Amino acid sequence: MRKAIVLGVACMALAVLAVTCKPSGDGGKLPVSRALEPYRAMDFGHLVGMEGFSDALLKMHFTLYQGYVANTNALLEKTRALVKEGKAEGPEYAELKRRLGFEFNGMKLHEYYFGNLGGSGVLPKDNALSSAIEENFGSFENWKADFIATGRMRGIGWVVLYQDPATGRLVNTWINEHETGHLVGCVPLLVMDVFEHAYVTDYGLDRKAYIEAFFKNVNWKVVLQRFGVEVKEADFPQPPRSVQPGVPKGEEARPAKTEKPSTETAKSAERKS
Ligand SMILES: [Fe+2]
Repeated sequence: MRKAIVLGVACMALAVLAVTCKPSGDGGKLPVSRALEPYRAMDFGHLVGMEGFSDALLKMHFTLYQGYVANTNALLEKTRALVKEGKAEGPEYAELKRRLGFEFNGMKLHEYYFGNLGGSGVLPKDNALSSAIEENFGSFENWKADFIATGRMRGIGWVVLYQDPATGRLVNTWINEHETGHLVGCVPLLVMDVFEHAYVTDYGLDRKAYIEAFFKNVNWKVVLQRFGVEVKEADFPQPPRSVQPGVPKGEEARPAKTEKPSTETAKSAERKS
């Protein structure tokens, strides 16, 4: 009997240990079992119908994003295979490796960008982020003017409002293309795409008008969450959509056109920008 009790306690202890040692999905640490899984494109179809962004533009943009996901997976797979084959010293490996920062950041930046859209564009008053913006920039208006001025710089790339977790400092930064200009260790809070493909379809060369439309759709709930603020759902009513999510305007009766994500499409369209 005593033996059975001891055995039972030992089994329970082992079970607790197993649960405790299981890699956590929190804090940015993914379970080991997912580390080598291919990246999967996220679905941002809920943005369709967003004011100021045509369905055609959004669908094209989703396709470009899917190309980055596909290219990131292909590069990671190919470089691993070259190492296994003992070909890591060659120029093919080197060029693929150089390309990874472009494709990977192209994928991630789009996820941050689409992720901080779809809101009402209204940042509720009296929150820690507003206070931090005022402390860093003097006022919300100053911060916004700096963010917009960064976004209107000539060239293609991104604007990122970063927070340096070491000091709390907030910085608006220009990212050239996808991979140059990132601030190491900083947390992206608000991300805006200013590649021409993000707006030319709807606004031609009027980047200023596109940036205004961007701000009208910022999802501040997401931005606050990235900043670490606990948010109240009631403060963020869902903005009205002109169409049902996923159903293009005027195309309700027609079957949706499926576009195969093409790595070449993504590459050439970005380069045209
Ligand atoms: Fe883009």
